[in-house]
Amino acid sequence: MCGIAGCFSEKGCYEKLLRTLRRLEYRGYDSAGIALLRKNRPRGGYGFSVRKKRGYVSALDGTRLSGSTGIGHTRWATHGAPSDVNAHPHVAGKFALVHNGIVENYAALREELTAAGETFVSETDSEVIVRLVSRCYKGDFFAAVRDACARLEGSYAVAVLCTDFPGEIVCARKKSPLVAAAGKNALYVCSDVPALAGEAEFFCPAGDGEFIRIAGGKIFLCDGDGKEIERPFVRLAAQSALPEKGEGSFMEKEIAEIPQALADTLKSLRRTDFAPCARPLRGAKRLFAVACGTAYHAALALRDMVEEEVKIPVLCHTASEFRYRGPLIGEGDVLVAISQSGETADTLEAARGAKERGAYVVAVTNAAHSSLAALADFSLLLHAGPEIAVAATKSYVCQLLCAWYLAAQTLFFKQTRLPAWFGELDRLPEAARAALGCDVSALAEQFSGARGMYFLGRGQDVVTAMEGALKVKEIAYIFAEGYAAGELKHGTLALVEEGFPVAAACTVRALAPKTCNALAEVKARGGVTVLLSQYRDLAAAADVFVALPPLPEPLMPAVAVIPLQKFACDMCRRRGYDPDKPRNLAKSVTVE
Ligand code: M6R
Repeated sequence: MCGIAGCFSEKGCYEKLLRTLRRLEYRGYDSAGIALLRKNRPRGGYGFSVRKKRGYVSALDGTRLSGSTGIGHTRWATHGAPSDVNAHPHVAGKFALVHNGIVENYAALREELTAAGETFVSETDSEVIVRLVSRCYKGDFFAAVRDACARLEGSYAVAVLCTDFPGEIVCARKKSPLVAAAGKNALYVCSDVPALAGEAEFFCPAGDGEFIRIAGGKIFLCDGDGKEIERPFVRLAAQSALPEKGEGSFMEKEIAEIPQALADTLKSLRRTDFAPCARPLRGAKRLFAVACGTAYHAALALRDMVEEEVKIPVLCHTASEFRYRGPLIGEGDVLVAISQSGETADTLEAARGAKERGAYVVAVTNAAHSSLAALADFSLLLHAGPEIAVAATKSYVCQLLCAWYLAAQTLFFKQTRLPAWFGELDRLPEAARAALGCDVSALAEQFSGARGMYFLGRGQDVVTAMEGALKVKEIAYIFAEGYAAGELKHGTLALVEEGFPVAAACTVRALAPKTCNALAEVKARGGVTVLLSQYRDLAAAADVFVALPPLPEPLMPAVAVIPLQKFACDMCRRRGYDPDKPRNLAKSVTVE
């Protein structure tokens, strides 16, 4: 999704912005641009130098633009196709602006501004903001941005330049993330912390509805009335830096990092003080869980584990639906919001809504300084390390671990005992390493030309099936369905014909006969079957058997998914695609 950056630096401002934009690339984008305030010679005064292009940040390389105050943007198209004209920054009169978010009332504003004489050049909702700022301007730059923002509905993080105020950048945020930062001889604003690594030494996230101003060589946070907020900047940890890709793709690298990510997450969980959430968890008669995409699958796994161990219901919702259902959540309820980035707009909104209704919010996130972590009453941190590939892999497995750990703590708070598998969590990293050894390349070769496939499971394996299908759709662009095996006969089976691939995960002994029956029904119709299980005696039930490393059954989803992640990645490669850049998708989905 869109990333925004701003920089004030007497030296090398353009290069600093370019480097920051490169580090925002992982969020997913289709065009990029930079604007710098430039001295007009010989007339005096200031104007803008703008370079913006459809395509990659590398398209902005070339002669550097001079100037010490600038803004930059990576755009993920929402309103208007990816094009040079729709790329940010947008300029109106004395102002240039970059925006991340969606202006929901942009059509009405555009009509109003057009009637007032503005001529729009792009199709974006963002151009409305810069024209509004320009119209609100009466000589006070900061006031103009505040007044314009007051008219906006939806979400935004904006950074604005004004030719009357060289050396100043005014930024605002509502829902979309924004961070203030300071480095040696440079001040920054940016959409996320990792993109500042190597540039800034200290940072401070802006809160919702707050503003950031760079002026007079200083950086301030301000409230909605323009009053300065005292909030300390914190040191940017070295581990916040984005990793180098090395050979292969980020996705392959991140799958290979799963054992370490699990070990690090487990170590951190063991050190986490759960005391603050003891009372809400002990008192909760039910839990709610919200998330999107892969994280939603982790939420389903939380549901499975809590219902099995704690015997209280978990109401699991995709975050985008939760808020529109008028959820029956309130005081005494606990909502668990799971998000790798901690910036997914739908998940944030769901968590906000739950908090407003009086629920206690637990965040499970990989980003300690994210908006979700800031909003939550309690945060459980994954220590998966930066995940750059759009497809979630190591973060998913760590989310499972956190979800189960939370289930165990809930049981402890309610019944002062821990689940039988709790002491076995230490085996997870080694088992994950063994699962990395599962060779699925022949399978990928066999199915890389398939037009569609099914993933099946029962009980806890349904979630693995859903996650496997999502991975295959997301990066191999093959239609896939993840399904409860028992549903096969209720419609799905109609599509099975000669050669149709169906893979099932079966990690629960008691459910094996039923899962194997489903595979038999597929085989009887000519389908090609694959079974993933730790129970080798089930091998004959499928055409191809993938042996999983053994663990206590409840923990098996953490290893069963790994061969499926590898399979999707391998299929993607064989079909000639880049696993790190799935079409139309973004890593950080910061708009609803
Ligand atoms: O950052 P989040 O965990 O909130 O992201 C949620 C989803 O957008 C994400 O899991 C998405 O489904 C993945 N790209 C799937 O691999």
